[in-house]
Amino acid sequence: MRPALVLLQSHCLLCVFGAVVVPVVLGSLPPALPWHVSCPVRCVCQIKPWFSPDSVYHEAPTVDCSDLLLTKLPLPIPENTHTLRLQSNLLSGLDTAVLHGLPNLTDLDVSQNRFSHVRTITQSSSLLSLLSLHLEENHLSHLPEDSFLSLPALQELFLSHNNLHSIAPGAFTGLDSLLRLHINNNRLTTVDPQWFKALPRLEVLMLGGNPVEALPERGFIALKSLRSLVLGGMGLRGLAEKALEGLEGLESLSFYDNLLTKVPTQALRRVPGLKFLDLNKNRIKLIETGDFQDMIHLKELGLNNMEELVSIERAALENLPELTKLEITNNPRLSYIHPQAFLQLSRLESLMLNSNSLSALHQHIMLSLPSLQEVSLHSNPLRCDCLFHWAAKQTAHPHIEKTIQTETQTARVVRFIQPQATLCSEPPELRARRVRDVTSGEMSASCLPMIPVSSLPSYVGVREGGKLVLHCRALADPPPELYWVTPSGLKLSPPSKGSPVPTSCKSLTSEGINHTSASSAPDDTACQPFKHYQVLPEGTLEISKITPREAGLYTCVAENALGADTRSVTVGVHDRIKKRKRGAAANLKKFLQFRADARLEVREVGEHFAILSWQSGHNLPSTRLSWQAIYSNVHTPTYTTRILAGTQSFNLTHLQAETFYRVCLHLGSGEVTKHASRSLGGSKKPQCVSFRTKDVPEPQPSLQLNPQLTSTAVTLLLLALILLLAGQGWDTEPGEGTGKHHMTLHQDIQRPKAVIINQKTKGRDGHEPNLSEKLLLHQDC
Ligand SMILES: *[C@@H]1O[C@H](CO)[C@@H](O)[C@H](O)[C@H]1NC(C)=O
Ligand SMILES: *[C@@H]1O[C@H](CO)[C@@H](O)[C@H](O)[C@H]1NC(C)=O
Ligand SMILES: *[C@@H]1O[C@H](CO)[C@@H](O)[C@H](O)[C@H]1NC(C)=O
Ligand SMILES: *[C@@H]1O[C@H](CO)[C@@H](O)[C@H](O)[C@H]1NC(C)=O
Repeated sequence: MRPALVLLQSHCLLCVFGAVVVPVVLGSLPPALPWHVSCPVRCVCQIKPWFSPDSVYHEAPTVDCSDLLLTKLPLPIPENTHTLRLQSNLLSGLDTAVLHGLPNLTDLDVSQNRFSHVRTITQSSSLLSLLSLHLEENHLSHLPEDSFLSLPALQELFLSHNNLHSIAPGAFTGLDSLLRLHINNNRLTTVDPQWFKALPRLEVLMLGGNPVEALPERGFIALKSLRSLVLGGMGLRGLAEKALEGLEGLESLSFYDNLLTKVPTQALRRVPGLKFLDLNKNRIKLIETGDFQDMIHLKELGLNNMEELVSIERAALENLPELTKLEITNNPRLSYIHPQAFLQLSRLESLMLNSNSLSALHQHIMLSLPSLQEVSLHSNPLRCDCLFHWAAKQTAHPHIEKTIQTETQTARVVRFIQPQATLCSEPPELRARRVRDVTSGEMSASCLPMIPVSSLPSYVGVREGGKLVLHCRALADPPPELYWVTPSGLKLSPPSKGSPVPTSCKSLTSEGINHTSASSAPDDTACQPFKHYQVLPEGTLEISKITPREAGLYTCVAENALGADTRSVTVGVHDRIKKRKRGAAANLKKFLQFRADARLEVREVGEHFAILSWQSGHNLPSTRLSWQAIYSNVHTPTYTTRILAGTQSFNLTHLQAETFYRVCLHLGSGEVTKHASRSLGGSKKPQCVSFRTKDVPEPQPSLQLNPQLTSTAVTLLLLALILLLAGQGWDTEPGEGTGKHHMTLHQDIQRPKAVIINQKTKGRDGHEPNLSEKLLLHQDC
């Protein structure tokens, strides 16, 4: 078996490519034997183990004259020398007559010398037995035609780390036996398909580290035997669809350290035999649906060290029946893996996800990987709550235990790599605990949405006419709904499920957008301007051909029955001349004028509720609503709730009947910039209205006392509770921008939701619902 193959089957993806450089496994070698010949001065002559490029073992008479500052070939070289080591000297030429007196010379190493012309070695008569020639780290700049014609048996040629900027089309002519060619780390700017015509047996090609920005179509078509291709560090920005055409035997491919922004899916379809793929250190932002599909021989995939990777989307990896190892590590912004990201990976055994920004790994992922044996999740900001239940220790907790055990029977045997370093960072009470030590009883059974901090920057600059792409993702249980709010306060939702039509004007209006702020943003009233807005199902907002008017604060909201999380991004639109800040500044100006257009109205009043609505025409993510019962002589507390961005109405519930209330709306952007929120914070005046709740209908004689008493009792109880909660110091600064919003009181007119009563009575498994996931109420006296 060939060394390349042996190591290709090893368990380390990086070794696959490392193996190409160091083909022989050291350590298990037999020791060197003495060789009694007249050896050149200062050199060492020994019989040493040696493996041919096709892995045949030899006891090789070896002359080692490395590191001797030689400028000339030392003499005498014994006639039966097999291996001649001359690396790290000062040679710029060789007496080729001496070499030709060595009929058994098989391996010649002149790396790290000063050769600038390859012919000084290969000229005149042939070195018929030479299999391996090391010329790395010399000063070669050009390879002329027929450079190696005198080396008909050569199997390995190492030319890396020279200054090669040109190679003649027929430079490699005559190398019919060549198996391995390293021309990486030179100055080549193009790849000439002609080079490879002379190399029908080539198996390994290292081409990386050359400033080649684009590979030609069908460039490698002559390399019918190629099994390993390394294209690392080349500056590739993309790959032509037919760039890899003809590489029928290719098993291992590395794109390490390039500038790819997408997975080159089309090009990869041309190499169906691929087993090992390394895409590490590229600029890929998303692994998208269908990126890796039906690669039926793929065994190992590396998606590590990507600064910009934020999300692995639904069905990103699908039907890879041979995939056993998947590495997605050291991606500082990767915070989201879709619960159905991995489909039909029936043989995946090892899933490496350490050192990302993941808060959880959804149980669905574990369930979808029947062969999974080990998972690595350490060095992630893990959230030990509902999404992580599969990882928790089982305890006597009848209700939860049952569901988990039936669903995750297989997932439970998965081994954690570095369990001592796999720690919870949320919730606070479980912080720094080892995930595997936390019991399922300690983990909450459901969880609020959370938009990871790392997924969205706080500022994004876009060139006028360019495309704005903002990725918002959130995990929660129950699964959250996501929507975006534009600077003008418009709510943009993804297209409803099953509808292939992207969010256009039609679907926007069907989602209940109500633009009423004609005065401040006339472009919002018409449908037309929103044709170029798109919200993708996963939560990505795309705006093509953006204009300066669209600069401003965009807020993503993720909401489920338990509450919501929001995150805002300031978008600046600038042209080539103007400075970045301009867009944001312009928006700020617009923002300063907003107050006049917000008007709080009472839409409907009941006995125990009131529906309030307002219009602002701006995205004001830190808006609050406060209310207070007014009695002539009693001091009553004021309650406050946050209003989700994009919301323009609120159902205030649990009011007392026949009572006067005063309600105030405190508009706040809070997120434009620190400066803006500070300067506006004090000057803003809340909009207030008063109303009186309806009278309770004349009671039936038979029910005379009880109902009213009960209702009052409940209300009083609630108030007491609220006071208690507020008294415990659970509060959030109004100015604080991107925090989590625990929205239990929020009542959208279109979608009525849980109210306090529900929260209190529906607490899981009988225990009190915890503050951290509950009311956002606080006293505001
Ligand atoms: C070269 O190797 C062959 C076979 O290993 C051997 O018979 C021959 O003597 C060697 N030639 C010299 C000059 O050592
Ligand atoms: C709720 O808080 C209590 C302590 O106040 C704690 O014992 C319990 O584990 C918490 N439950 C959840 C679901 O966070
Ligand atoms: C939009 O708001 C107006 C008045 O504020 C209201 O009459 C209309 O019914 C609303 N439309 C929708 C679709 O909610
Ligand atoms: C507002 O809340 C009350 C009390 O829960 C409810 O009866 C009423 O139907 C709600 N109104 C709307 C429009 O959701």
